[in-house]
Amino acid sequence: MTKTIARRVAPLTGSYRPEGDKSLSHRALLFAALAEGESVIRRFLVGGVTRAMLRCLRQLGVHWELDEAAHVLRVRGVGPWGFESPPEPLDCGNSATTLRLLAGAVAAAGVPCVLTGSEGLCRRPMGRIVEPLRLMGADVTDTDGHAPLTFRPAPLHALAYALPVASAQVKSCLLLAALAADGPCAITEPGPSRDHTERMLAAMGAPIRALDPPAHGAVALPLQTPLRPLDIELAGDISSAAFLLVAATILPGSDFTLTQVSVNPTRTGILDALRAMGASITLANEATLAGEPVADLRVRAASLTGTEIHGDLVVRMIDEFPAFMIAAACAQGETLVRDAAELRAKESDRIAIMAAALRALGVDIEEYSDGFRIRGTGRIPGGATLDAHGDHRVAMSLALAALVAEHPVAIQGFDILSESFPDFPRVLAL
Ligand code: S3P
Repeated sequence: MTKTIARRVAPLTGSYRPEGDKSLSHRALLFAALAEGESVIRRFLVGGVTRAMLRCLRQLGVHWELDEAAHVLRVRGVGPWGFESPPEPLDCGNSATTLRLLAGAVAAAGVPCVLTGSEGLCRRPMGRIVEPLRLMGADVTDTDGHAPLTFRPAPLHALAYALPVASAQVKSCLLLAALAADGPCAITEPGPSRDHTERMLAAMGAPIRALDPPAHGAVALPLQTPLRPLDIELAGDISSAAFLLVAATILPGSDFTLTQVSVNPTRTGILDALRAMGASITLANEATLAGEPVADLRVRAASLTGTEIHGDLVVRMIDEFPAFMIAAACAQGETLVRDAAELRAKESDRIAIMAAALRALGVDIEEYSDGFRIRGTGRIPGGATLDAHGDHRVAMSLALAALVAEHPVAIQGFDILSESFPDFPRVLAL
């Protein structure tokens, strides 16, 4: 579907409660499937990526019931080793989180199966999970470092492993496999990737703990007692909220509040980055929701100036760069991002795709192997037809650019946004 979006004159006002966080939805669903007993998950994200996990778990013999309107999911857990062997390959769609987390779980369960997905997913790197899983003893065959991955049952062993790139998907995959290992597994990583797996599995009774700072990573011991089922409400998705934070910042006169958003410190890099540029974002009603910090975020329109981003901050806002690039284009002055080569391994090569798109919109951007430099002038000329390249966050970021561009922007493949944020067009009245 091609969507043409013209400049928006009205400010963004009012409030919105974002859907449940994507990472938390994936984890709650999968961990509930591995628990013993029935779990109830409220504010579950109903999107393309979580539907992929739901489908795969059904093929593995897990019963669940989803009330789509209420966003309430009930899952009947089969226990950590209770998956049935699926007759067909498991189709993870566009969801790398589904594929990489399931890989750890099926290795632990010792269930023979094939994990595959969309063409886009089969282009993404899987060596990063296959290599350490093999070091643990897993019998897994890849396709030139990519999916499809074929698993056969094999006993798993203790492991001490240092991730070359900070990644919550890889860390979580290995922590799940570690539950079935014959000794402790210690996973370290070079930066603070999201720690939702550690928090949620520990709350369910798994012997897992995060490493103490300044180290990053976690240690897991073999599971001795069944995981307790969940009865939780999930925090709102800060990665979806980020699009609205940028929209309200760049649309003059805006004053908008996002309620009960996850403000887990491993996810709040976008708040730090936007504030460093001069954004007006304040937190209220700070609380804890099912072990995750949440707050209401009030954002008011502001003039932005360029900034520099590198190191751990990149990890703490890894999904927010496409939206952030629109803020940088609307800022006055240079924004420089380094240490972000990982952006090339996401749903698309987000450095190359966003740079080409911004250039077509008349923005001055220079690309580096591990980042980019945007010379912001405070305006986006626009007037181009662009492609979302099968990347939900690219689609939504281009829509943000269109909202402030001087000439309308057409976005091909716009509907891919429903992978993670189906409400997006409604909230922005697109
Ligand atoms: C996710 C981790 C991140 C992120 C993805 C979700 C997760 O990927 O980009 O959207 O839920 O663990 P990496 O682990 O590859 O950085």
